[in-house]
Amino acid sequence: MSKKLFIKTFGCAMNTRDSDHIIAELKEKENYSLTENAKEADLIILNTCSVREKPERKLFSEIGIYANIKKPNAKIGICGCTASALGAEIIKKAPSVDFVLGARNVSKITNIIKNPKAVEVEINYDESNYEFCMNTESNIRALINISIGCDKKCSYCIVPHTRGKEISIPLEMILKEAEIRVKNGAKEIILLGQNVNNYGARFSTPPKTTDKKINFTYLLQEISKIKEIKRIKFVSPHPLHMDDEFIEEFARNEKIVKYIHMPLQSGSNKVLKDMKRGYSREWFLDRVNKIKSLCPNVGIGTDIIVAFPNENENDFYDTLEIVKEVEFDTMYSFIYSPRKDTLAFHLKEIDSKIATNRLEILQNLHKQILEKKAKNEINKIHKVMIENIKDTMSEGRSDNGRVIKIQNKKLNLGEIYNVVITNNENGSLFGSLVNV
Ligand code: SAH
Ligand code: SF4
Ligand code: F3S
Repeated sequence: MSKKLFIKTFGCAMNTRDSDHIIAELKEKENYSLTENAKEADLIILNTCSVREKPERKLFSEIGIYANIKKPNAKIGICGCTASALGAEIIKKAPSVDFVLGARNVSKITNIIKNPKAVEVEINYDESNYEFCMNTESNIRALINISIGCDKKCSYCIVPHTRGKEISIPLEMILKEAEIRVKNGAKEIILLGQNVNNYGARFSTPPKTTDKKINFTYLLQEISKIKEIKRIKFVSPHPLHMDDEFIEEFARNEKIVKYIHMPLQSGSNKVLKDMKRGYSREWFLDRVNKIKSLCPNVGIGTDIIVAFPNENENDFYDTLEIVKEVEFDTMYSFIYSPRKDTLAFHLKEIDSKIATNRLEILQNLHKQILEKKAKNEINKIHKVMIENIKDTMSEGRSDNGRVIKIQNKKLNLGEIYNVVITNNENGSLFGSLVNV
């Protein structure tokens, strides 16, 4: 009889991808099957995130909950970025944990489950480790890692510490994985990395010399040659590496979804410098304007941190100004959270009331922007790829990243339809099919 695996995934798409790897490997090599009920699991894995302090703190209460409900012989494993950040400290603090496996070590899952109290968190730079079991189950969407780690040293961010230096995965490995996923039904490929558009900066084994420069633009061109792929997305690109070549390819290549995440972090040049982001507000706006001029219907998303140490009212105002000017379609916003092992850790924090107030002002501003934009959506026509079918409703995403619901229609998963927006209820867009 197969053993049961329960896995809970926190954090970003890279962790989702790592969980996919873990599930596939344990299914194939150890005969595990997935369960959504932790009480019946033989193995409970928490794939953790440590980008902000709160989830990291909550990890220990989570472990306590699972330790209480698990079957007597079931094991608990902690994987992901908090595993990398805290290592053996996790088992010391929570003795019910059986193993700790860092974010850069997921390929060792089969060994570690057999080693009581093992801790594997060291980082090696061999990207061929990523050539282990992949999820080959049919799914219209496939997440594919193109690089791991991050070479930037943003002064607030723990990711370079938990995921190590950036290395790009060889182009042939990425194309091979894409081909396999397509054969199994994938129509949409999502390329993953902390800095996707820095692809090619470092390989652990330099690629054989060709006359083509292997960079992100070239990778996009190669991926889009795979006939069955209908859509290509990527996350996260870095504003610093949005050169003209990349923006022009983004605009020209019809398979690339016209939605781009541009993590701003702050609109103040002083704060951007303190954060070590490597670009100015002028550069950021110049890139936004270039993208908008080439793709007028583009959707743009962002991440913003408020109350970074020394952010004053004027700095915060600079952020609000950019948000008003760009009118981001999605915005993830956070209060700065000090992280050990980062450059900003020792800087004095801003009073938490001021921080909460700034976050509220920013989020209210964005809400107003979204309401205004949603009104302008009525009667617009979008190409929508169906991602979900629920009862009598089909749901999909437009080619600029918006979720659109089509009522009373059972459409085909993975197919693209022309849809006109008919109404907007509480920020949800509804539409019906049209011929164009
Ligand atoms: N590589 C991506 C971001 C990865 S982390 C990039 O460079 O944009 C995802 C987001 O979490 C970041 O964009 C940032 O907005 C937020 N974040 C990271 N560290 C943080 C911290 N210490 N406090 C608050 N937010 C943080
Ligand atoms: Fe963190 Fe900066 Fe790297 Fe993004 S680019 S993962 S924010 S260090
Ligand atoms: Fe979190 Fe690690 Fe991703 S810290 S955001 S899971 S890279």
